Amino acid sequence: MSSTTDAAGGRAQISARTLRTDRWWLPPLLNFAGLAAWVVYATVRAFQQDNYWVGEYEYLTPFYSPCFSVGCVPEASHFGQFLPDVWWLPYASLTLPFLLLFRLTCYYYRKAYYRAFWLSPPACAVAEPHKKYTGETRFPLLGQNLHRYFFYAAAIISLINTYDAILSFRTGIGLGNIILLLNVIALWAYTISCHSCRSIVGGRINNFSKHPARYKSWVFVSKLNAKHMQLAWLTLATLAITDFYVMALAAGWISDLRIVG
Ligand code: FES
Repeated sequence: MSSTTDAAGGRAQISARTLRTDRWWLPPLLNFAGLAAWVVYATVRAFQQDNYWVGEYEYLTPFYSPCFSVGCVPEASHFGQFLPDVWWLPYASLTLPFLLLFRLTCYYYRKAYYRAFWLSPPACAVAEPHKKYTGETRFPLLGQNLHRYFFYAAAIISLINTYDAILSFRTGIGLGNIILLLNVIALWAYTISCHSCRSIVGGRINNFSKHPARYKSWVFVSKLNAKHMQLAWLTLATLAITDFYVMALAAGWISDLRIVG
């Protein structure tokens, strides 16, 4: 086994694929399984166009919010109906692409799916199977720079989800309300912990001492930012659990556990 650096001062020329002896393949494998399972579930649900609204308690799953299709139950459409009702168009198709792009361009998810799906590289100090590496300098990966704009869109969508969760309390309090509320708290924590949010809050100033409010906000966001990976996974879980609970109620599989009303 030889190990030298190439003449151009680039990568070390190591004949073995990796010198690592630990189970480096486990995190990318788990990420692959987790992300693939979530994407399959979310795609099926987004196109199902059914079991997304519980009229009795005003529960709307985040996968169908805001419900803009003319096919939506009118009471579930808090912001109007103008999209055609066709099978290939999810009812929330105006906002779902932004949420998808927000997560696809997220710094953490990039790391996760570059490793788990593209093996580029699969782990630290493990050679990738690709011959060429151009980083994020070319289309389409150049588009990762748009993350900041998708952050703004995601913040607006989190506001809409919060509005849905608050509206549901008009009918009393049940387990569904608590699940919807916990989901929006998790969504806000993930959104605020975004790296772009951190630079928006703390960037473009030369002196924190002259901007105490922004400094405090930046400290707060930075603390959340350290947990960004955990929050990314937590929100995938809360979104799926919230959607599944609403679906189970709407389909009549279970009844809501009521606390008040
Ligand atoms: Fe992950 Fe912005 S870096 S959401």
